[in-house]
Amino acid sequence: MKLAENKATLSFSNGSPSVELPVYQGSVGPDVVDIRKLYAQTGMFTYDPGFLSTAACQSAITYIDGDKGELLYRGYPIEQLATNCDFLETCHLLLYGELPNTEDKGKFTKLVTNHTMVNEQMQFFLRGFRRDAHPMAIMTGLVGALSAFYHDSTDINNPEHRNISAIRLIAKMPTLVAMAYKYTIGQPYMYPRNDLSYAGNFLHMMFATPCEEYKVSPVLERALDRIFILHADHEQNASTSTVRLCGSSGTNPFAAIAAGVACLWGPAHGGANEAALNMLYDIQKEGGVEKIGEFIKKVKDKNSSVKLMGFGHRVYKNYDPRAKLMQETCNEVLTELGLEKDPLFKLAKELEKIALEDEYFVSRKLYPNVDFYSGIVQRAIGIPVPLFTAIFALARTVGWIAQLNEMIGDPEYKIGRPRQLFTGSVKRDVQPLAKR
Ligand code: ACO
Repeated sequence: MKLAENKATLSFSNGSPSVELPVYQGSVGPDVVDIRKLYAQTGMFTYDPGFLSTAACQSAITYIDGDKGELLYRGYPIEQLATNCDFLETCHLLLYGELPNTEDKGKFTKLVTNHTMVNEQMQFFLRGFRRDAHPMAIMTGLVGALSAFYHDSTDINNPEHRNISAIRLIAKMPTLVAMAYKYTIGQPYMYPRNDLSYAGNFLHMMFATPCEEYKVSPVLERALDRIFILHADHEQNASTSTVRLCGSSGTNPFAAIAAGVACLWGPAHGGANEAALNMLYDIQKEGGVEKIGEFIKKVKDKNSSVKLMGFGHRVYKNYDPRAKLMQETCNEVLTELGLEKDPLFKLAKELEKIALEDEYFVSRKLYPNVDFYSGIVQRAIGIPVPLFTAIFALARTVGWIAQLNEMIGDPEYKIGRPRQLFTGSVKRDVQPLAKR
């Protein structure tokens, strides 16, 4: 963090003395005004619900330029990573700061694949859930429960513990998501196969059965790997900030990541891919492309609370670069599966075209986000809709853990403790029950 040459001055109209605040520069992106001493100097807090203007930390992992529609992991554009690297290389990059060379890649892949199995007791834990439980309900429980199985990697202050828990989480998430799926459909769990790629092994655990051989389709494997890369990190979004805040108390990494899973579940965040596909189904049921106009009218009606799911983003005020890559993958997967005429894909493209020309969306800079197309790809692969957000959680785990580890290693790290503007009752006395 570099001190900028200029300083900010905060003055008050009531004659209170003004204060000078330091300004810091990052390597790229907006400068920040350092308000850490503001309360000590003025007795005032700042007010920023939703963190619209607040940098909650310094980070060197992911950079987004929302106006340009640019996403960089450790400086590398997402388009280059999605076309030239696989997910485990991306994990190495996010965790350790650099893309691996051939030797590092081999070592890292071996390390991750050596941790893909989960403790056998895990299946008994799963049995406590109803068969129709939502996969995200199961995942919130299972990920938190990992801390009960791996006591040797729960000390967040120990760098070795942090590293091994990072590897365990990346390695075991696919196994847990596949187990959650197999449990809900009543099929036997498939053990991981370490001769397969990360994405290939996940497809195997999801769709193989003990009765016959399952052949991983290279096109679907690549598509899934790309979904993982595109969702791997996204700087200080709601679930990542949740993981940081939760981890800032010193809790163990599995508990912190479980908090991230819970946050991701919401429809305004990771749940949007499920919501986007359900929205497409609904429009399709009501008449398809012809009903788009009517649907858009409802979206624009302030009293309807209907949103165009998969559209809009807090940071991107231009096309989400991940949505472009996802649309490309969508084309590839549907062609491979002979589903080029898939009515939902056609509907999504038409909906996008109309929305991108509509004044409501144009003036608010609302563009498709990654979730607009990821649901169609996942559905084509055969992943059931309620599992979409769990796949997102699987992919985002590396980002969460990289951000958590970065925070713990930051000398400026403190427990996160926001303050408030209190608007409730001032001090008053409790009255006896008969007098209330
Ligand atoms: N459909 C219709 N109108 C929208 C949408 C949408 N999807 N998104 C934003 N708007 C409108 C708002 O109503 C608001 O209009 P107004 O100025 O007339 O009041 C304006 O655009 C600004 O929107 P905000 O809600 O203030 O934007 P915010 O940054 O708080 O929200 C969010 C971002 C939550 C992503 C929002 O766009 C949304 O709910 N989108 C749909 C859900 C979704 O796709 N989420 C996925 C996010 S990406 C991810 O997590 C991977």
